[in-house]
Amino acid sequence: MTDLSLHLLDIIQNSLTAGATCVEVGVKAEKKTDRLTLWVRDDGSGMTAETVRRVSDPFYTTRTTRKAGLGIPLFKASAEMAGGTFRIESEPGKGTLVTAVYEIGNIDRKPLGSVAETVTMCIMGHPETEFHLILENDDDSYVFRTEDVREQIGEVPVNDPVIIGYLREMIEEQSKNLFGGILNEIIS
Ligand SMILES: Nc1ncnc2c1ncn2[C@@H]1O[C@H](COP(=O)(O)OP(=O)(O)OP(=O)(O)O)[C@@H](O)[C@H]1O
Ligand SMILES: [Mg+2]
Repeated sequence: MTDLSLHLLDIIQNSLTAGATCVEVGVKAEKKTDRLTLWVRDDGSGMTAETVRRVSDPFYTTRTTRKAGLGIPLFKASAEMAGGTFRIESEPGKGTLVTAVYEIGNIDRKPLGSVAETVTMCIMGHPETEFHLILENDDDSYVFRTEDVREQIGEVPVNDPVIIGYLREMIEEQSKNLFGGILNEIIS
């Protein structure tokens, strides 16, 4: 996986598979503490404590009938190899929160990549799901919600190619504004 946005795509995909009606994606880059935090929160089926333990470790499995997934272990590894931490909070019937923290300046931190691309791809493929995107730096934040877009565009579907193109540009610009000068891969 070349960038963190692709890991996010994987984790969002898990939320969609878990039947989420709303998925929140967060990116917080703090210059003061040199921390980049990524999270995905959903209202899907959730997991038991035992499942959380199992999915975090690709080599731990109680069954042999099915290969273990890699989305979560790879996301976890991406954080831990960049001086960060990883955490899953989940409750059956309630939902799941997956959080990865990175040292921004760590040489092994992968570049963020395009969160705009990831989120718009998800909206395109799942127009019935609500997506919230939160972008934050030390002083400022930006919140995007598909509900607000729906309210503005009325009859036009949220995955209309023109709408998607517009949203991608808007989110891309917000990412540049908020993360330029903090994440060295983003030139503002
Ligand atoms: N948000 C979630 N809500 C409920 N269950 C989840 C969630 N995320 C992961 N899981 C459970 O954890 C398992 C492992 O997820 P992981 O992404 O590591 O692998 P996978 O999705 O099974 O396969 P892949 O390698 O294609 O991602 C999933 O199969 C699912 O059972
Ligand atoms: Mg997965």
